[in-house]
Amino acid sequence: MTYPEREVAYASRYPPKKKIGPTSLDDLKKGRAFDGDDNSDPKTHPDWYDLDRFETVIPFFKQHAFTMTLMWHTSLVIGFSLNCLLEALVFTGDSGTPKKALARYMLTFERLIDWHSGNIWDPSDKAFTSLQGVRTGHAAVRKDMESTIKREGKFMTMYDMGCVQAGFMGAMITMPQKFGMHATSKELDDYVYFWKCVGRQLGVSDEFNLCSLDDRDTVTGIVTQITDLIEDTSLHPPAEFRPMAQAYVDGINLSLPFPLMSVDATLALDYWGLEKPQPRRLSWADSARFWFFRWVFIMIGYAPYFERTMSWLLLFSFKHFPPTTRLCPVGQHAGQTRTCPHREVGSGFKTFVKVYVIFGILLSVLSFLACLGVAGVFMFQVGLTAVAVCSRMELQNYVVGQ
Ligand code: HEM
Repeated sequence: MTYPEREVAYASRYPPKKKIGPTSLDDLKKGRAFDGDDNSDPKTHPDWYDLDRFETVIPFFKQHAFTMTLMWHTSLVIGFSLNCLLEALVFTGDSGTPKKALARYMLTFERLIDWHSGNIWDPSDKAFTSLQGVRTGHAAVRKDMESTIKREGKFMTMYDMGCVQAGFMGAMITMPQKFGMHATSKELDDYVYFWKCVGRQLGVSDEFNLCSLDDRDTVTGIVTQITDLIEDTSLHPPAEFRPMAQAYVDGINLSLPFPLMSVDATLALDYWGLEKPQPRRLSWADSARFWFFRWVFIMIGYAPYFERTMSWLLLFSFKHFPPTTRLCPVGQHAGQTRTCPHREVGSGFKTFVKVYVIFGILLSVLSFLACLGVAGVFMFQVGLTAVAVCSRMELQNYVVGQ
């Protein structure tokens, strides 16, 4: 048997496994019939497991953590209008006041840092424990909702998981340039793979994992459909949307030197990012906030050291001054099944964030001046060259004329 014949014989005996996963929103919607956790064992590896590819997220995150945080923030605010998420958050009541919301979302952010900087496949790694903590928390909330809320249908389904997954990674792959992020195609493909891994470890089955097919165009298509849905609901959101989004924004503002965030300004950034018309006029304060963030995105895009410095500082602060303790401070919430309502963000962390924001503003202004300076020097050079060329031509004409 020749080599090509052997190849053909091998391929027919062991055909490559067909990749499964949603190709459209309709495929994902079939997941409404299933709990959002398939009880897969997180200590086993699926046949598509590739640690080297997974770990490409670590340097990517180090470089873009600041921009990704801004993306998560904007996605979260519009994401509050997602019925399934809102229902669960209102049910737990663990993020309904600014103080609670600040502690809850700082912990969420810490967990995202864990996953993006460690190994969620290795049971001895902090990232693994952190992710499985969230999975256990989800299971506990689902169980409580099932036993308390009397309504048709399942809670926290595979479909819901896909929608929330889109909130975490959608902006990164559909509109990185809007936020000023420079990323190569390969980096974005690998980021989709990273979220395929996160979904799997959270219990999402391959069939309903938004990122299963590992094909950015397919995922972008589904994310766009989900985004259209969310944009529609955000125009006529459920009654609980405002209080929940406001609690989150007020919570974040608690740690900032001045109220830099607002729900309307963030929604305006969402609509701008999605290239949709702005549904309402902004107050002058919200317009200032909106333009401030647009300015920050421009700085991210044009001054790479700005993004790197802000990302480094952000990760440094969370590593050395963690905002909350992971364990319940009064010892009532041992284990990590549900968000602990006693946790509070320490004043040390709040001070750090205030300094961080003021430093960021100064750095962005300096970056802008530096850009102006570079542009000015460039224009000066162009001007000088033009004068030199013109005067040379004039001299030649003069010599020829003589
Ligand atoms: C890929 C999908 C998802 C990811 C990556 C994710 C991520 C997280 C993270 C990091 C936390 C931890 C917060 C903490 O420890 O306090 C959390 C908690 C929670 N998540 Fe999810 N989640 C996802 C899907 C969902 C869905 C679909 C729902 C509801 C329909 C949901 C509802 C909740 C609730 C209720 C909590 C508890 C915290 C609270 O009540 O404020 N999550 N999730």
